[in-house]
Amino acid sequence: MNKPFVKGLAGVIVDETKISNVEGEFGRLSYRGYEVHELIEKQSFTETVWLVLFGEFPNPEQNSNLNKFLIENSELTNFETEILKSIPKETHPMLVLQSLVPILNLKPKSEITLPFNQAEAIQGLVVCAKIPSLVANFFRLKNGLDLVKNSDSNSVHENFLFTFNGKKPSEKEIKTLDATQVLQMEHSFNASTFAGRITASTLSPVQSMISAAIGTLYGKLHGGADEAALKMAQEIGSPEKAKDFVSNALAKKIKIMGMGHREYKTVDPRAKVLKPMAEELTKGTKFETEFQTLKAVENAMQVEMEKRQKEIWANVEFYKGAVFHTLGIPPEFFTTMFAMARSFGYLAHFLESRLDNKLIRPKAFYTGETIRKI
Ligand code: COA
Repeated sequence: MNKPFVKGLAGVIVDETKISNVEGEFGRLSYRGYEVHELIEKQSFTETVWLVLFGEFPNPEQNSNLNKFLIENSELTNFETEILKSIPKETHPMLVLQSLVPILNLKPKSEITLPFNQAEAIQGLVVCAKIPSLVANFFRLKNGLDLVKNSDSNSVHENFLFTFNGKKPSEKEIKTLDATQVLQMEHSFNASTFAGRITASTLSPVQSMISAAIGTLYGKLHGGADEAALKMAQEIGSPEKAKDFVSNALAKKIKIMGMGHREYKTVDPRAKVLKPMAEELTKGTKFETEFQTLKAVENAMQVEMEKRQKEIWANVEFYKGAVFHTLGIPPEFFTTMFAMARSFGYLAHFLESRLDNKLIRPKAFYTGETIRKI
């Protein structure tokens, strides 16, 4: 029987957006009309945040104010820190984020003038500012390390890397993180953003929207694939073993994490940027074998897919872990790095949905029992 719905909403257009465009057939991703690789090369992280949120680049004063606002508001309150300390250390960091975002204190420590929806945009920016501190502080508590107070950092990611690793990062590390976070900032109606938009459509506040989205991002079929892909490479152990691993996995219908995408029918443009970056950063380090193993998995997958006449390519999650590892970030925290960047995308969708809100409430095709008597 032909069912009157599309499973998983694959290919179904559910609303309109001006924020980003995923052109799967060309392997192109753009934010507000600018391709991501160009944004990485030519604009700063906060300029891209402003663009994604408000549609135009900020002027120098707006950009500097945003940078200052995000750093100043990143510090957690004593109450927030105490809650973080009381969470069992074995809790997955993504569950920590999802549960703490809704109870953050959203009163800003400083003022900032934004182009529209001032009050809700400020609250959202405070959430985005505090997420890096939740991540860094939970990492340090989990590992029995002292919490590090904000240094006098010049940028959001200098601030994050300092509070995470407890030492001043190099310019190269800051630039690397800026690039990965621009790449992951926004991706149209992906599963977590859609979950967030559903939440926003009920007129829930921004912190509920971001928390719902983070809960959705955690899954292995979505953001959680970054942790799973790197752990897979570690399990395989060396590039020579990749071919057998891939053919065994495919024979058992086990998915290779970090491969395949609902929208991209060619290589994911984000993976295109991340692969050479991972290669350069891991060269000569203890992470080189991980990178080479991933590369061998990708090659083996290409061979297998050609045989099956299928198109399955590496996605953004595949090489990201190798990059994050070189920044001192362990696999369990990879997806929280994704959440840190994507929180700005979630906020952009929150603000866009508020401009023309309509409750999202679809129908289901009922296949249960017909009415019967008790
Ligand atoms: N490894 C092996 N086979 C894969 C695959 C992968 N990573 N991704 C897709 N396939 C295969 C499926 O088994 C299926 O084969 P079939 O038609 O013989 O049953 C076919 O390709 C279609 O996959 P499906 O999962 O139905 O497509 P989708 O559009 O729902 O899936 C993903 C998109 C991302 C969920 C899927 O590619 C996947 O699970 N990838 C791994 C997880 C991941 O990296 N997620 C991050 C995405 S950014």
